[in-house]
Amino acid sequence: MNKLIKKFAVLGHPISHSLSPQIHSLFAKELSIILEYKKFDINQDKFDEHLKNFIKKGFYGLNITLPLKNSAFKICSELSERASLCKSVNTITFLDNKILGDTTDGIGIVNDLKNKAINLENKNILLVGAGGSANGILYDLIQTKAKRIFITNRTLSKAVEMKEYWGKFSNKNQVILKVVELNSFSNLNFDLIINATSSFLTNGESPISNNVFNHLNDGGACYELMYGQETPFMKEASNKTNLVFDGLGMLVEQAAESFYIWHNLKPKIKNVEIFNSSGFESFR
Ligand SMILES: NC(=O)c1ccc[n+]([C@@H]2O[C@H](COP(=O)([O-])OP(=O)(O)OC[C@H]3O[C@@H](n4cnc5c(N)ncnc54)[C@H](OP(=O)(O)O)[C@@H]3O)[C@@H](O)[C@H]2O)c1
Repeated sequence: MNKLIKKFAVLGHPISHSLSPQIHSLFAKELSIILEYKKFDINQDKFDEHLKNFIKKGFYGLNITLPLKNSAFKICSELSERASLCKSVNTITFLDNKILGDTTDGIGIVNDLKNKAINLENKNILLVGAGGSANGILYDLIQTKAKRIFITNRTLSKAVEMKEYWGKFSNKNQVILKVVELNSFSNLNFDLIINATSSFLTNGESPISNNVFNHLNDGGACYELMYGQETPFMKEASNKTNLVFDGLGMLVEQAAESFYIWHNLKPKIKNVEIFNSSGFESFR
């Protein structure tokens, strides 16, 4: 491989399903950039050691996926404000002996919602989940100038901790942050319900009962962070609204933002092009 060709990779475990190499290759093709982009299955215990090897081998940047985003956050020498607040890093750049960390998941979902003409200004959002992804997108969700964001989670104490943690930032942005108990939403209505849980993977069910979708306003949307197949959350949401989306668009948009960080160029490739080139079966 020519030394001048910039080398990139995505690290995670498991990693075989990752579409990042295809996505970055399509971006590079569109913008006439030559690069190498690979995927590596990396053990969390030896993350620091692996990272040093990538530096030694001359990699320019890395994408970090589950379950390594917090380990990556801990090892970076400099963090963007959003990565620092989200305590999560999905984009690493090796520059001048520094390890620069950023997170693009939040801007990924916000840009995808914009592409889908979902305007969040002054709207009410229900965010289901209080894990890494829910925290990872909250910084950018708050910046949309939504009116209120309701957080709910199976383990309610984690939603309470999340509200306390993000309280100052949401106040600064004049967004009201509230915690609601899972499935008890009387008197509340939402414009957007986001499923940021891994319930499909843990028990194959929707994390919220059917009844919650009755609290969706007319013209409201539902967004599932997972992608690749229709989940029970999406199926149940479809009975209430036509605006039901999976996380493929978020994946593409977070990759586009990483690409921008590394190359200072914005790709325009659309979701559907990635979908067609990725080879996973259509489910709609
Ligand atoms: N599209 C994209 O680009 C993108 C990017 C990142 C992540 N994701 C997806 O986002 C999802 C969440 O990932 P994560 O990193 O946030 O995981 P995580 O940190 O492990 O958090 C898991 C969350 O799911 C909840 N949960 C798990 N099983 C549940 C069940 N059976 N019923 C109700 N709640 C349940 C957990 O609740 P407790 O606190 O009660 O355990 C917690 O809130 C994954 O499906 C991942 O694939 C997509």
